[in-house]
Amino acid sequence: MNKKEEEKKNISAYEKAAQDGIDPRCIPQKLENPVPEHEEIIYPNYSAEEQSNWSFLYNRQMKFLPGRACEEYIEGAGKLNLSDKKIPYLKDLSHIFHNSTGWKVARVPGLIHEQNFFEMLRRKVFPSTDYIRGKEELDYTPAPDLFHDIFGHMPLLTNKSFASFYQMFGEAAMKAEGINRKYLETFHWFTVEFGLIRKPEGMRIYGAGIVSSHGEVQSALSGNVEVKEFVPENIIMQEYDVWHLQPILFAIESFEQLEQGFKEWTKKAGLA
Ligand SMILES: [Fe+2]
Repeated sequence: MNKKEEEKKNISAYEKAAQDGIDPRCIPQKLENPVPEHEEIIYPNYSAEEQSNWSFLYNRQMKFLPGRACEEYIEGAGKLNLSDKKIPYLKDLSHIFHNSTGWKVARVPGLIHEQNFFEMLRRKVFPSTDYIRGKEELDYTPAPDLFHDIFGHMPLLTNKSFASFYQMFGEAAMKAEGINRKYLETFHWFTVEFGLIRKPEGMRIYGAGIVSSHGEVQSALSGNVEVKEFVPENIIMQEYDVWHLQPILFAIESFEQLEQGFKEWTKKAGLA
C-alpha cells in the first residue's frame, strides 16, 4: 500500500465523505475561537416554522419510542423536560446536566473537528447545534441539527454510567493516533449513535442516530437487522456505511457493561 492509500485508510468516515464530494455541511470545521458554554448560551429567535418543525419531529418520533427506546432514554427525556411545546433552551439543559452528571452544554456552529469534539467530551461538555433542519429535510438530513443533538443525544447524558463512558471516550480519543482513531470512531458509531441494549422485556434502542431518525427507529428492531453481541474487539473491526439504514448493530447488556468494556479495551489499546 502506498502512502496515499495508507493515509486514506486512517481517515474518518466524515473526512472520507468530504473527499468524495458529499454535502459540505458534513465537513467538520475547526473551531478557531471559544464557543458559548453553559450560562453564555443565548436562545435564538426561532421562527414559527422552526418551532413547528421541532413539534412535528418530536411528536412523530415519540410515537415510536414507547416499547422501542430503553427506559434510561425515556427517563432522561423526562428529566430534561423535552416536550413538543417549544425548542429547548440549551442553557436550561446545561443546568440540568450540571446538577445531575456534572456535564455542561456548548453551542457549536455545526459539525466540528474531531479534536475539538473530543476535547469537549473530555471536559464533560456536550457540543450541540442550536439550529433546526428545514421543512424539506424533516425525513432526513445528513447534517447535524438540534433535533439530533438534543432529542437524540442528550437524554442519555443524564445516565451516570453512560456519561462516565462518554467522558472516558473523549479522554481516550485525545490520546489516539493512526488506526486507533478509526477504531474509536467505529466504536462511537456502533454505541453512541447506533447502539442497542438487551433488556428483560426485549431488545431496546439507545443510539442517538436511531432515536432521532424516522427511518432507523422503524428499521433497527426489525428482522432486517443482524444484532451482534457487545465485544469491543469485534465492534472496532466492523465496516459501516453512514449513508444507508444499518444492516448490522451491536447490543450491550447494560450501560455498566458499556463503561467497563470500553475501559478494558482502552487499557489494552494503550489509550487509558
Ligand atoms: Fe450524533
